[in-house]
Amino acid sequence: MRREILVYPDPFLARKASPVAAVDDRIRVLVRDMFETMYAAEGVGLAAPQVGVGKRVVVLDVSPVDETIAPVAVVNPEIVWRKGSATAVEGCLSVPGVQGEVCRAESVEVRGMDERGNPLRIKAAGILSRALQHEIDHLDGVLFIDRLSSSAAVSAK
Ligand code: NI
Repeated sequence: MRREILVYPDPFLARKASPVAAVDDRIRVLVRDMFETMYAAEGVGLAAPQVGVGKRVVVLDVSPVDETIAPVAVVNPEIVWRKGSATAVEGCLSVPGVQGEVCRAESVEVRGMDERGNPLRIKAAGILSRALQHEIDHLDGVLFIDRLSSSAAVSAK
């Protein structure tokens, strides 16, 4: 089922999400709905708070940018390692019409669980690294517009 995407400045987007205690059917339905919602909106990532759920769950499918990377859902994602820095233009389904340059770590390692509750470890660079950091930010109530490079121009799409 497709869910409604909250849009800035909805205060829910600024809230910190809670860890998932158990990966159960409710979480699996949430993950399925989040993928459906993300694909319908033509996004490459979505975090549960964007659909009004204060749980630490993200879904990503960056295959429109890099077709070699499979879709992934991460429950309780945590960045355990980061290296380098890179600046690129980002947008967000919750901040329609706005794009801007954001500096992030170039590579990250993320640990968490998959939608079956199995441990998951992702080492990522490039678009997947950026998307993971963007989505994990959502879980801490942080939007990309909070991280814009001061010199970067914000432009309407
Ligand atoms: Ni976003």
